[in-house]
Amino acid sequence: MDVFRISGGRPLSGTVTVGGAKNAALPLFASCLLTDEVCRIENVPDLSDLRYMAEILRFLGARVEQLAPGVWEIEARNLSHRAPYDLVRRMRASVCLLGALVGRLKKAEISLPGGCVIGPRPIDLHVKGLARLGCLITTEKGYLHVDAEGARGKSVFLGGRHGSTVTGTANLLMAAVLTPGLTRVDSAACEPEIADLCRHLVAMGAKIEGIGSPTLLIEGVQRLGGASHRVLPDRIEAGTYLIASAMVGGDLIVEDVRPEHLGALLDKLDEAGFRIEAPSHSSLRLSPGGSCQPVDVITLPHPGFPTDLQAQMATLMAITPGISIITERIYPHRFMHVPELQRMGADIAMEGASAIVKGRSGSLSGAPVMASDLRASAALVLAGLAARGETWIQRIYHLDRGYERFDAKLRKLGADLERLPDTEMPADLREAD
Ligand code: EPZ
Repeated sequence: MDVFRISGGRPLSGTVTVGGAKNAALPLFASCLLTDEVCRIENVPDLSDLRYMAEILRFLGARVEQLAPGVWEIEARNLSHRAPYDLVRRMRASVCLLGALVGRLKKAEISLPGGCVIGPRPIDLHVKGLARLGCLITTEKGYLHVDAEGARGKSVFLGGRHGSTVTGTANLLMAAVLTPGLTRVDSAACEPEIADLCRHLVAMGAKIEGIGSPTLLIEGVQRLGGASHRVLPDRIEAGTYLIASAMVGGDLIVEDVRPEHLGALLDKLDEAGFRIEAPSHSSLRLSPGGSCQPVDVITLPHPGFPTDLQAQMATLMAITPGISIITERIYPHRFMHVPELQRMGADIAMEGASAIVKGRSGSLSGAPVMASDLRASAALVLAGLAARGETWIQRIYHLDRGYERFDAKLRKLGADLERLPDTEMPADLREAD
């Protein structure tokens, strides 16, 4: 396995182009199962999660081909309704195959996804929504069995104790577009990735109103046709680079950004004292306005502050003099980055689902740390960029799931960062895997 070696303290300057959004491309791939015609998806990020989703679609019987970098063609003429455990367990996002199989085949057998390091990943809202449409659902030996022959459009309330569900909304959409009658989804997720999915479904012939709003109206149609779609830019990747720029300074321009998808982050960076400029309608640059101020962050469903940027923001606050309180309302346990940041000198105390960060400039010093959840791992890279001395990060395969060519992009911007085989890591620093 590979590791990252980072020598911190260098600014980032130049231009970085953001890739297509992982969390849009995954349900978009699944939506191509809704038709037997050819779909073409562009601006697909080169990530292990997408290559894995392609493997699952092929197993189900679809033809899945990468025609060029970022350009994929999917044709699901014959399709199996069964997604086995050994495929589904490796990537939770494969749960969004459920809605596509139900929509196209009126039946599905899919292994229940396990939990993961950021906490339990239930799908009770997905099941509730499909049952509300009249699907007969049973659970047996860890598999969800769905019979949707009798499904009809209905009103569904999809809100849960942590607000809306992103992949739950994707599943309901992909089931409802081919379910006879009118389906109304209340408390639907408003994440931009869901709007992107809706636009592709409409291009395939689906009838959807309220795109981007918490209330979706879907009129079921008989069949859907093939379509082409360009994946929207990844707001989380963009936000990660903006926070990196806030941490290490320099003159970084982040290209192919939708500022309107980053409102909560830009608001927090402004509150912290950074000046945000837009060199063009699709790029952003951060420059230090004055002294950085600590800010409190609470993660919420979109348009609230995204949980996928929480770890990165906590890391920025660790080097910002003052007290910041970072609260997780989406995944209360999503703090795997905290023990690793503490090893690097961050002063963070946990209080339930809140991290109390006592920030101090220059508080981080390099150390051997362990990657875990995708976004916690990104936070450790940012910490290494800002820390004094050398940081070694193990298990960076977590990063390859969500950040395309992260090391190459950062090196190009001036970071002193190498991707090395773990055998190159000094043995006394290496932690037993
Ligand atoms: C999506 O996960 C993203 N993944 C996650 O990004 C992201 O963190 C999350 O949305 C929240 O924004 C993809 O889109 C592939 P949820 P998802 O269903 O859909 C609870 C990353 O790093 N819930 O919106 O699985 C759930 O436990 C990943 O890129 C239920 O209680 O998240 C959580 O507390 C990590 N019952 C909250 O809702 C359900 O049936 C939000 O979950 C479903 C969810």
